[in-house]
This record gives sequence, structure tokens and C-alpha cells, in this order.
Amino acid sequence: MGKKRILSGMRPTGRLHLGHLVGALTNWVKLQDEYQCFYMIADLHALTDRSDTSKIKEDVREIVIDWLSSGISPEKSVIFRQSEVEEHSELFLLLSMVTPVSWLERCPTYKERIEEMKLGSNVSYGLLGYPVLQAADILVYKAEAVPVGDDQVPHLEMTREIARRFNFLFAKVLPEPQPILTKIPRLLGTDNRKMSKSYGNYIALSDPPEIIRKKVQSMITDPARARRQDRGHPEVCNVYSYHKVFNKSEVSKIGQECQKAVIGCTECKDNLSSRIAESLKDFQARRQELEKKPELVATILAEGREKARKIAGQTLKEIKEAMKI
Ligand code: TRP
Ligand code: SF4
Repeated sequence: MGKKRILSGMRPTGRLHLGHLVGALTNWVKLQDEYQCFYMIADLHALTDRSDTSKIKEDVREIVIDWLSSGISPEKSVIFRQSEVEEHSELFLLLSMVTPVSWLERCPTYKERIEEMKLGSNVSYGLLGYPVLQAADILVYKAEAVPVGDDQVPHLEMTREIARRFNFLFAKVLPEPQPILTKIPRLLGTDNRKMSKSYGNYIALSDPPEIIRKKVQSMITDPARARRQDRGHPEVCNVYSYHKVFNKSEVSKIGQECQKAVIGCTECKDNLSSRIAESLKDFQARRQELEKKPELVATILAEGREKARKIAGQTLKEIKEAMKI
């Protein structure tokens, strides 16, 4: 098979939301026809910011069902759980021998995480090594490209640097992967911050229409439209950026009507809620069907593990030969 290989992953954080769909999944689904795709549930990475693992199994199940419902297909792609392919952990260890600590300390996502979680001096060795594990995820399949959001670009850059250094020190085993960046702008949460489970500002892919309506009605709009008759500026309104994604056929009309105060925000949001609910209908119907099949996720992950290990094992062999161990 001549298709190029790609790998991407998500940490299991429970049910997925619109941010995941627009920012990643829609693209992942399309890529399945062009590439040989490896889609990984990054459960080891999930351990870098939580010690409560009681829900992790459930979260893995939810994410797999969400992937399948959005059109990720186990016939086209290899779907697997990171911790079940032990080669990731072994390569992580080997690559950590060639990765300078100074690179890791300089990583912007590392610094952000420490700030965000107010970790102070309570930073784990695992969190520092997060990009090395991510490099192992990618390099163990010799993936040529990685579909990621712009927040992951520093990690991919680090992966390339680690590969380059390995090739220089030992033997030319590892290709340097390229990013595949999604062109779609990132959707903000209902409070205008980054959409995230921990902020509680998300619309889940499995939210029923009433909940979607409630969440959309709570969204912040153009502050200049305090009263119904005030003219609006759609470009500063988060609701409008959602219309751009979910209501392409009406978006320019809505923009004009907002500027002339022809429509009010309540009406505008009601319209958007219906569009979002409509675009999630097929997804939710598929999800309901899949939930009735309790064995399905385990079967898919077991098959994915086998396929993944074949390639990962081969790479690891070459790496160890190069390192003479
Ligand atoms: N760090 C990624 C995220 O938080 C998840 C991830 C782990 C990943 N390993 C990966 C993404 C390898 C791409 C390739 O979104
Ligand atoms: Fe935003 Fe729509 Fe209100 Fe205009 S009418 S400010 S686009 S919610």
C-alpha cells in the first residue's frame, strides 16, 4: 500500500465537544481516504494532569464511541489505546536519553500548564517529559505527517528535533514528521474562552437540542447590542463565528441583519441552536446505535492494538539495533 502514514491522538477527557469536531475530527474523517491513519487514545498523557484515574476506562469508551459516531472507521484506520501498545513507553524511555532537559523546560505548553494548574514546584517528571512521549507516539510508526491544532505545533517541532538528534547520534532511522494544520478557525467556548471540559463552557456532541438551546442562549454577544434596537458588529460576536461554521447558507444575511438591528440576539441564537442540533442529528443517531453494542469498543481496541504493535515493534527493533542494545 503506497499511502503515507499519519498519526494523531486525543487525551480521553470524557465525551467530546464541538471544539473537537470542528478542530480535529471532521478533518480526521476526511484524511482516512488519503492516508493510512493511526488514531490513538492518549491515556498515558492523560496521567500527566490527573491522579484520579477512576473514570479513565469509561472516558476511553466514550471517546471511541464519539470517534466512531463521527465517521472514524476501524476498517480504514487503526484505532488504539496508547497504554496497550507498550512500545510507546519503551521508545519514550530510549528517546528521553537523547532529549536535553533544557529543550523540555523551554517548551511553551509546559510553562502554560504549570501556570494554569498552579503547580509551583509540584511538577512531575512525567509532565516535563510530555513532549518526549508524544514524539515516541509519532516516531514509533515513522509517521510522515501529524494532523494537529496550532496549540500542538511546539510538540511537533520537538518531535522533529528529537528525531534529528537520534539520527545524528546513532543511525538514520527516524523520518521527521510534518504537521497537517486544520484551516478551520478554532471555536471558542460559550464564555469566549478556549472551549474546554474543565471550563464547563462547551457544547457536547451528545447534548440534546434543549441543552444546546440553553447553552447557546447563554453565549456572550456583541456588548454594543445592549438593547434590541442597537446596531451590532457581527465580527466581534462569538455567536456569529458559530454561524460561519454551522450556518454557511445564511451567515452573510445574518451579518447584515445584525448590523441593521433587523434581528435580535435571541432570535439569532435560536436559529443557531437549530443549526447545531441539525448538524449533530446523524452523529447522535449513530451514537445511540453504538451504545447498544457493549463488546464493540473492546473488539476494536484489541484489533487496533495488534495492528499497531506490528509496526511499532519493527521500529523499536531498528532503534535498538542502531543504539546497540
Ligand atoms: N498532546 C495532544 C493533545 O493534547 C495529544 C497527543 C498525544 C497527540 N500524542 C499525540 C497528538 C501524538 C498528535 C500526535 O491534543
Ligand atoms: Fe451576535 Fe447575532 Fe446578536 Fe449579532 S444578532 S450580536 S451576530 S447574537
